[in-house]
Amino acid sequence: MMNKRIEAALNDQIQKESSSSQFYLAMASWAENNGLNGTAKFMYQHSDEERFHMLKLIKFVNERGGVALVPAVPQPPVEFDSLERVFELLLEHEIVVTESINGVVDVCLQEKDYSTHNFMQWYVSEQLEEEALARGILDKLRLIGGDKGGLYLFDRDLENAAAQATAGMGGQPA
Ligand SMILES: [Fe+2]
Ligand SMILES: [Fe+2]
Repeated sequence: MMNKRIEAALNDQIQKESSSSQFYLAMASWAENNGLNGTAKFMYQHSDEERFHMLKLIKFVNERGGVALVPAVPQPPVEFDSLERVFELLLEHEIVVTESINGVVDVCLQEKDYSTHNFMQWYVSEQLEEEALARGILDKLRLIGGDKGGLYLFDRDLENAAAQATAGMGGQPA
């Protein structure tokens, strides 16, 4: 049997990864409908990665004698004010997720569950990468401002970034 506090913390994290996946899927769809095909590809892929994060947790909970709860999926926003706003929201969301992961790690230490603590370290480093990526993209967008040519190049860069990540499957759990 899995420690109940650990089980609850991991199930809460499963819910957060699921909501990340849906949120980025909504951003992908918005980008696609606004002529930002590179951004759409990037977001579809990011959404898939969040689903992998969720699956990895579900399997871990079940393998350790817990019961993973598959979360309900509330509808994310349909409209976004701007591309810059999209990435601001993405960064804000990742920061909330990082805090949540730190919370799980904290529970692991309180409950002296060192194997779950060890498992969670993958998420700790993944969050560092994702926050850095989101901050870098946001910096670029702020530099570009309203420049159409800059935006075109930005969107193409994201398309290349998405293609590279697909080729390497970087950071995706088995
Ligand atoms: Fe995630
Ligand atoms: Fe994430």
